[in-house]
Amino acid sequence: MTPLVEQSLELYADQYGDPYDAVYAKLYAMDADYEGMFLLDTDEGLRRNMMRTTLEIITTYLTDPTAAANRIVGAQMSHVTYGVEDTFHQFFEITRDVIAQGLGDAFTPDHAAAWNLMLTDFEQAQV
Ligand code: HEM
Repeated sequence: MTPLVEQSLELYADQYGDPYDAVYAKLYAMDADYEGMFLLDTDEGLRRNMMRTTLEIITTYLTDPTAAANRIVGAQMSHVTYGVEDTFHQFFEITRDVIAQGLGDAFTPDHAAAWNLMLTDFEQAQV
């Protein structure tokens, strides 16, 4: 099922390139406080790294779910110091939503099911 996640990312990339701008626009729209958390990130380096890491974890999951889970647990722990705990997984959900909205009808129920299965695994990630 997971190749569908990869396919949706490829279709998105072909049409729009990097999801970075759309994902952060959605994050700030969800809660204006999120934008303030990155005030010191003047060159957007932290945010780009966060987006890159998110996509890397998804790609890793496709071949090595355990390695993906380990990276999620590590990132989740570092976010406790930023005051991000319960909401950590929202960033993965926003990424899914941006891909789904970008693809429109090309994002099928099977794509949605594959993403949802993966995101459920992410939420259950433990070392
Ligand atoms: C809504 C959920 C999230 C919020 C609000 C959030 C917020 C933040 C903030 C404020 C920082 C910068 C902290 C600093 O000043 O050093 C940060 C860094 C980071 N975040 Fe997130 N985060 C979220 C979810 C995620 C997720 C799901 C991942 C993927 C694993 C992730 C990966 C990273 C990485 C890798 C960094 C470090 C960037 C660097 O040091 O270059 N974040 N996050």
